[in-house]
Amino acid sequence: MNLTLKIWRQKDANSKGKMVDYQISDISGDMSFLEMLDVLNNQLIEKGEEPIAFDHDCREGICGMCSLYINGEAHGPDRGVTTCQLHMRKFKDGDTIYIEPFRAKAFPVVKDLAVDRSAFDRIQHAGGYVSVNTSGNTQDANAIPVQKENADMAFDAATCIGCGACVATCKNSSAMLFVGAKVSQYALLPQGEVEAKERVQNMVKQMDAEGFGNCSNTGACEVECPKGISLENIARMNREYLKATTSTKD
Ligand code: SF4
Ligand code: FES
Repeated sequence: MNLTLKIWRQKDANSKGKMVDYQISDISGDMSFLEMLDVLNNQLIEKGEEPIAFDHDCREGICGMCSLYINGEAHGPDRGVTTCQLHMRKFKDGDTIYIEPFRAKAFPVVKDLAVDRSAFDRIQHAGGYVSVNTSGNTQDANAIPVQKENADMAFDAATCIGCGACVATCKNSSAMLFVGAKVSQYALLPQGEVEAKERVQNMVKQMDAEGFGNCSNTGACEVECPKGISLENIARMNREYLKATTSTKD
């Protein structure tokens, strides 16, 4: 395939960025999208030009590092996959592909296509964990029965990889699908109940402090989420928040 790429280039967080055109040829449909960018970067390096910065790590859909807004969609035109799992066979010879970073106030551009998603880490630090007694008296997790339905829903919520596509897709730059998944993962398990009230309040407080918008039930996040995280998790987070704040005031 021969392609025209229109790629966002931005020197650093303080510089003004712009779209730059690149031509690339002999791209196989079996290449991943990131491999196609690797080929382009090798060509740029050979010409003595600055390679394009983009985030990646596992390249198998589990770390959440890769991002990219491709032709106006987070993680590109395929469904249920991250950018690293997107294959070039989804495009046609002669196509023009627009490649931009995930855009949101809380995800500032670091360079080119790489954005700072540490806001998600700070939300996790605010409550996305279960405190464990490591004194030697730790209870075996298997000793606590968990209803199968709840275990399945908790597992589904736990598949969120923190990629940020939900934020990039949302017209309000809301992080509620991500936070809803993290809250639900623990709210559905007895192990998470102990810190449930503090968890939901602290995570929502941090989410707001980071500058993410609110949810207006558009549902774009669920459509673009590579892990199929359901909007039900946002509803559960809202119920957990109401429960926590109502009982605190009592
Ligand atoms: S909810 Fe989905 S889109 Fe949002 S961070 Fe998690 S995996 Fe990514
Ligand atoms: S590089 Fe890890 S999910 Fe894409």
